Amino acid sequence: MSPAARPFQLIVNGESVRVTAAPDTPLLYILRNDLALNGPKYGCGLGECGACAVLVGDRAVRSCTLPLADLNERAVTTLEGLGTAAAPHPVQAAFIAAQAAQCGYCLNGMIIATVALLRRDSSPSEGAIRQALRHHLCRCGTHMEILAAVRAAARSTSAETAS
Ligand code: FES
Ligand code: FES
Repeated sequence: MSPAARPFQLIVNGESVRVTAAPDTPLLYILRNDLALNGPKYGCGLGECGACAVLVGDRAVRSCTLPLADLNERAVTTLEGLGTAAAPHPVQAAFIAAQAAQCGYCLNGMIIATVALLRRDSSPSEGAIRQALRHHLCRCGTHMEILAAVRAAARSTSAETAS
């Protein structure tokens, strides 16, 4: 039997929100079903595909396997919190410029993983890029365009850091 629902105070995309749910509820369900944040996608539900990734602090985390009770008041950023259609985050802009999508289902995870990578390493090597994305699955085979987008985002982040 699932534990009883109780209130949780979360910080999501810079805003404080209160939700009531069982402590073992996956964060992904709260984001999508309660907060209407549909950037994170439900793919495998098992922590294997990366489609549901969000930033917890500066780390990319799979929200489908993160119980609400384990958040411990750490701030969550979803795709929606990075940028907007009118003012995309530099990583989002790089993916658009590279046309790095077919169906787009994996892109939430790819972009979140890239943002996390560039926050810890503004000038990643090719190996570091591939390492960061290695457990993010793309069934459309868009890997080459995605890698090109990540390299472009890294170049612009590195240039920005240097200036
Ligand atoms: S849906 Fe979370 S890793 Fe696949
Ligand atoms: S673009 Fe379709 S799964 Fe990656």
